[in-house]
Formats: sequence, C-alpha cells, structure tokens
Amino acid sequence: MKSIFPLYFDTLNCSNGAHTQPWTFSVVRDQDTKEKVRQIIEEEEKINFEKRMGEKWVNDIKHGGTLLRNRNLSKCSTLIAVFKQVLLLRQKGEKRTHYYNEISISIAVGLMLAAIQNAGLVTCTTTPLNAGPRLRKLLGRESYEKILLLLPVGYAADNATVPDLQRKPLQDIMELHDHVVK
Ligand SMILES: Cc1cc2nc3c(=O)[nH]c(=O)nc-3n(C[C@H](O)[C@H](O)[C@H](O)COP(=O)(O)O)c2cc1C
Repeated sequence: MKSIFPLYFDTLNCSNGAHTQPWTFSVVRDQDTKEKVRQIIEEEEKINFEKRMGEKWVNDIKHGGTLLRNRNLSKCSTLIAVFKQVLLLRQKGEKRTHYYNEISISIAVGLMLAAIQNAGLVTCTTTPLNAGPRLRKLLGRESYEKILLLLPVGYAADNATVPDLQRKPLQDIMELHDHVVK
C-alpha cells in the first residue's frame, strides 16, 4: 500500500476547540503488533457480547450489522488507533484540560474517513469497547489518552461486499428556515 501519510493532511489542519489538538493517531503496520491488537479486541469483544452488554444491546445493534466482525483485523495493511486526549499532562505534573475534546476529534476523524475514501481505500469505524486500557498499554500511550476508534485501513478484498442499507431521505434529516422574520 502507498504511504498513508497524505491522509493526515486534513486532520493536521483540522479545526479544534481552544486549539488543543486533542488527538493521537497510533498507526500500526507491524504484523506482530496487529496480531496483538486483534487478540485484545477479540477477547474483549467476546466478553462484551456474552456478559457485559446484555441481550437488548446485542439485539439492537445486530440489525445495523455490528456483530463480531473483528476477526480479520490483522489482515488489513494498517490499523489506526485513534486516541482522544482528555487532558495534557505537562512537565512538573501541570494539567491542561482539553475542553471539547470529543467533538474536536470527531471532526478530525470525519475528515480522515473522507480522505481514506478519496484515496480509494476502505475502512470500518470500530469502537473497541473495554479494550482501551490494554490497547493503550500495548501502544505505549499516556494514561490520559482514551481510545475512541480503531480503523482498519486497506484496499477492499476482491470478494468484499457491503450491506445495502437504506438512508433517511433528505427531508427527514434537514429542515429549512428561509423566510425573513420581521
Ligand atoms: C461510531 C461508530 C461505531 C461503530 N462501531 C463498530 C464496531 O465496534 N464494530 C463494527 O463491526 N462496526 C462498527 N461500526 C460500523 C457500523 O456497524 C456501520 O457503520 C453500520 O453498519 C452502518 O453502516 P453505515 O455506516 O454505512 O451507515 C461503527 C460505526 C460508527 C459510525
């Protein structure tokens, strides 16, 4: 796969609350580390689905297509673990709170998803529920960084398919207020 670093251009310049840039994109291309990530995700996901989430949660997301699909994680060429920095710990233990960190990183990830698609690559936004502390340790991230998403990135397999999901029509997601109020 070509260098993925052009994908970061929009993200690096992304608007963010209070100019804190509260993110770290941990890019994993080494096969051994990818296998370790996959193992962590599989183990935690199994416990999530069998014990932590409960029947209602499992049934609710089943219809959206999110079910134990992470087995192939280590087959993609690149894994991007997205960490949000809820604060920054400076030298001497001084803390800087990163206000708006969640919305800032969501905007950055949105730009990255568009860049991935524009580059002809594919990904699936996965949320590594309960795997955060183990991934943080594996990837050597700081204690104040929380995992937000894990993006497996690569070219689509020749036999890849996507579900034919129906989108809401425009009038259901947008309303127009265009008359002048006097
Ligand atoms: C915020 C978010 C979290 C998601 N988490 C997971 C996940 O943990 N595992 C997974 O297999 N898919 C996950 N997905 C993928 C969704 O299941 C997928 O987006 C869904 O099937 C809807 O398809 P669409 O994005 O084309 O509308 C996630 C998607 C989003 C946007």
